Amino acid sequence: MVSRNLQWGGRFTEGPSAIMRAINASIGFDRKLWRQDIQGSLAHAAMLRHVGIISAEDEAAIKSGLDSIAARIEAGEFPWDEGLEDIHMNIEARLTEGIGEAGKRLHTGRSRNDQVALDLRLWVRDAIDGLTGQVEDVMRALVARAEEHADTVMPGFTHLQPAQPVTFGHHLLAYVEMLSRDRGRLLDCRARLNESPLGAAALAGTGFPIDRHRTAQALGFAGPTRNSLDSVASRDFAAEFLFACAMCGTHLSRFAEEVVIWTNPYFGFVKLSDAFTTGSSIMPQKRNPDAAELVRGKTGRMNGALVGLLTVMKGLALTYFKDMQEDKEGVFDAAESLTLCLAAMAGMVRDMRPDAARLKAAAGAGFSTATDLADWLVRELRMPFRDAHHVTGRLVAAAEARGCDLAGLPLAKMQAVEPRITQAVFGVLTVEASVASRTSYGGTAPENVRRMAAEWRERLA
Ligand code: ARG
Repeated sequence: MVSRNLQWGGRFTEGPSAIMRAINASIGFDRKLWRQDIQGSLAHAAMLRHVGIISAEDEAAIKSGLDSIAARIEAGEFPWDEGLEDIHMNIEARLTEGIGEAGKRLHTGRSRNDQVALDLRLWVRDAIDGLTGQVEDVMRALVARAEEHADTVMPGFTHLQPAQPVTFGHHLLAYVEMLSRDRGRLLDCRARLNESPLGAAALAGTGFPIDRHRTAQALGFAGPTRNSLDSVASRDFAAEFLFACAMCGTHLSRFAEEVVIWTNPYFGFVKLSDAFTTGSSIMPQKRNPDAAELVRGKTGRMNGALVGLLTVMKGLALTYFKDMQEDKEGVFDAAESLTLCLAAMAGMVRDMRPDAARLKAAAGAGFSTATDLADWLVRELRMPFRDAHHVTGRLVAAAEARGCDLAGLPLAKMQAVEPRITQAVFGVLTVEASVASRTSYGGTAPENVRRMAAEWRERLA
């Protein structure tokens, strides 16, 4: 007996035509392209009239027909029809319904293949413009907090083990650097995708005397694409966009992971308000960093979208195959996910309250100024660094045995290990002295952080 999933399978009892309609239709998701589809059609119609392929009356009818379709969609009154497959045919069919003959002339010299390539490029370009603004907003939030915390000392980690003291401001500015490269990647992607495929038609170009330079210019492109086959067959612009999203998401995810660690009460480095945390339904004491966890979690979708699209494309001969209809949902989802993640991050950065006392105490734990001590031996006693490393190791062991930190080790105990050590050594053993000494370019010293944060503030103004 054939088992039938009544919940989902019911609609296919109509037979093959219903199955075909369901697998073939993209209107359920590509309706998101409606603005771009109309924008492209308006430019195409204006060009068709300019070169004399359609009359001025036809163009006027097309324009008013498309305007009223836009208004109906906007108002949520457009009758989407799965039978009309996709956004292109839904709009064209209603246009013809509304204005008659002229609507049927719109598709002269183009195909859905160049039309969909155009629409998606326009959509991605718009998405990039929104996302770069949002990335800048997160950067601005980080820079403001970095200036505020240029002197706040915290532990720097490698292996999540205390390594050397750093400043909270320096740590935040590390993410500003990452995000500025993410922004650059989005802008690089924008520059490369900014060529118009419209007029490549099905795959070979067209015999109509269309003016592709004109439509390209009208739509804000740098120019038309140069090869009709490439124009309809390529989606590397979308893959590149997805990589830029995935990379930015990955950076946000690493920061989110730090927020999760920092807000853990065992660390207690920062607090988030109720605005970005949730309570537990059963454990009254809980404050869960859900927003950070979701930023971390959503990155999986962006990475998935990238791999998904590359996998769709990897086996396709030139030019268009229906497989490529699968390019859209991942692009939409990644862009929407990143939009949310950036908004959540900007909010959390502004919301978080670092606990300077706890950060400082943690910064001093784990003999974190041992490197400063070794450097002092090199500088003051002219010891080769390898020997200084060894001596410091013995001093750490002595402090460990005594149950104190390096600054708490009496001078006599130090001199038992290395007789030439003087009282002056204590000047480099505090966490403040440690970070203040790191003045090399790009180092964590508060003066560096203040200078770098001010530079970023001006660049982002
Ligand atoms: N909905 C289609 C897509 O998204 C549009 C292009 C259809 N072209 C075709 N030759 N069937 O890819």
